[in-house]
Amino acid sequence: MADSAEGAGPAPAPEAESAEGAGPAAAPKAGSPKGAGSALTRRGLLIGIGAAGGAGAMYAAMGALGLAPSDQDKQFTAPRRGDFTLRGKGSAKVVILGAGVAGLTAAYELGKAGYDCTLLEARQQAGGRNLTLRGGDRLTELNGPAQDVRFGQGVYFNAGPGRIAPWMVALDYCRELGIPIETFVNNNAAAYVHTNGRTVRARTARADMYGYVAELLAKATDLGALDKVITGEDRDRLLEFLRRFGDLGPKLEYEGSERRGFTRYPALDGGAALPAPGTLHQVLAAGTGRAITNDFGYEQATPMFQPVGGMDAIVTKLQEAVGADRIRTGAKVTKITNLADGVEVAYTGGVVKADYCIATLPPHLLARIPHNLGAQVTAALATPVPVAAGKIGLEYGTRWWELEDRIYGGVTETDLDITHIWYPSHDYHAERGLLVGYYNTGSAAELYGALTPEDRRHRALTQGKKIHGEKYRRDLLSSASIAWERQEHIQGAWVRWPSFDSSFTLLQRPAGRVYFAGDWLTHLIAWQAGAMESARGAVTGLHQRVLQSP
Ligand code: PHE
Repeated sequence: MADSAEGAGPAPAPEAESAEGAGPAAAPKAGSPKGAGSALTRRGLLIGIGAAGGAGAMYAAMGALGLAPSDQDKQFTAPRRGDFTLRGKGSAKVVILGAGVAGLTAAYELGKAGYDCTLLEARQQAGGRNLTLRGGDRLTELNGPAQDVRFGQGVYFNAGPGRIAPWMVALDYCRELGIPIETFVNNNAAAYVHTNGRTVRARTARADMYGYVAELLAKATDLGALDKVITGEDRDRLLEFLRRFGDLGPKLEYEGSERRGFTRYPALDGGAALPAPGTLHQVLAAGTGRAITNDFGYEQATPMFQPVGGMDAIVTKLQEAVGADRIRTGAKVTKITNLADGVEVAYTGGVVKADYCIATLPPHLLARIPHNLGAQVTAALATPVPVAAGKIGLEYGTRWWELEDRIYGGVTETDLDITHIWYPSHDYHAERGLLVGYYNTGSAAELYGALTPEDRRHRALTQGKKIHGEKYRRDLLSSASIAWERQEHIQGAWVRWPSFDSSFTLLQRPAGRVYFAGDWLTHLIAWQAGAMESARGAVTGLHQRVLQSP
C-alpha cells in the first residue's frame, strides 16, 4: 500500500535534512568564512575530509561522528532495577490502557525495572491490531456477522501488520524476544501489474516504462536539449547510464528487452519471446506508474521481514514476558481520573489506582472516555481521523500461484478496488496456502467492509479473476475477512493527522500523570515500530520522573 498510503499520515515529510545540517550543534550556514580555523564545525570538518579523501572517506567520517544514515541508534535505555538502588526509592505502579503492541511494549520495558504494571484490555485477547487468524478462531465484528475461521492446520492469515522493514525497532524486539524471522517478499518481478484492464508481469511493466523514459531522456540529451544544464562530460555519463537503465539499443531506442521476461524462458534454446512492447503512448496510457514504484519508499524497500509462523508471535512473546496475569481482558475503561498523587481508572470490572497511567487506546476512542485531563486533551485526541482498511485471506488447496504462475511471494498491484494481492512468503511448496485477496484502504475498504463476509469473498474473487482467470476460484477452501473500522474497541486501521500540529505534540507529553502512547503519536503511523517507539518514549519519560520525584 505504499501507494501514497491513502491515509497513512499526511504526505511524507520532505527528505530529511542532509546529515551535515542535522542536530542542534549544526554548523553555521553556508557563507561563514571558509577555513576559519577557530570554528571547526562538523560540516567544515566533513567538507575538508570529503575534499581530501573523497566521498568514501567523508562517509566513513560521518559514521564515526554518528551522522551516517546507517546509524540506527535510537538511544533508548530500558529502565533497570539498578537505577533505583542508589536513590533509595522503588518503582511505581502503572496502569496501562490497552494491551496492543504499544501497551505490551510499555509493560515489557517497565517490567525490566520491576514496575508493577496492570494492563486493561477491552477486547477478549491482547494484541490489538496485531492479529493472526487461524483455523478455530472466531472473528466478531461491529454491526456484522461473526466469522468462524476454517483454515487448515498450519495455515495463518496476518489480518493486521504483515511486514517489517529492517530499520524498524520491531525487528529488534524479534531479536530480543527470540522470535525467528524470515524474508517477506515485498517486491516480486514475477507478480502482476493490473491497470486499465490489462495484466502484465511487474518485470514487463517496469522494463517498458524504464525503457521509454530512458529513451526520451537519452534523445533529449543527445539532441543537446540539456546542454545548458549539464557539461559535455556529464552528458556522456548520463547517456551511459540511460543505456543501462532502459536497456537501450545503439540508436538510443527502446525496442523491448529481455528484462521484460519470456513466454518460455531460455534453456536448451533461447526460449520464446513475449510479444513486442506497446508504443510509448500505449505504455504511458497503461498507467502503471503507481504500481511499479510501490516499493520505492523507505518503508517498503526490500528486503522486508516477518516472524515465522505469524505476526502474533510478537504478541505471544511480549505477553509471556509481561506475565499474562497482569492483563485483564474484557476490561473496558469508563473513566480516567488524574489525582494529585496518582491516577484512578474505572473499568467495566472495577477500579485500578496507580501512580501513573499510560493510555494507548486509539485516540478517537480515548476522546470519548470521561476524564479530568482538560478540554484541550479531548480536542487533541479527537483531531486524528480514523482510516478504514480491510483484508481478506483466501485459502486454497493448491498453491497454483507457485505451480502455474511461478509467483513466490510478493504483491500484485492493481487499480481495482482490491488494490493489492499478497502471495505468501512462507511455506513454499506446501500443499495448501493462503493469499491476501484484497488489502485496501479508505473508500474501497469501506465498500468491502459494508458487505457480508460472503459478498466480500465473492467480490474479491470476481476482481482477482480479472488477473488470474478462472483458476482464482478453483480449489478455494475457505476465507476470512477483516474490516478494521468494524473491529470493536479499535474502529479503524490507523489514523491520519490533518497535520502534525500542536495537538500531536501536546499528546506526546503527559497530561498530569497520564502518558499517551501508540503508533498514532509518531511519524510511523500504521507500523508496529511506531507503537513500540512511542511506548519507549513514554517509558523513558515516566521512569525519569519516578527517579527524580522527591
Ligand atoms: N504498514 C502498512 C503496510 O505496510 C501501512 C503503510 C503502508 C504505512 C505504506 C505506510 C506506508 O501496508
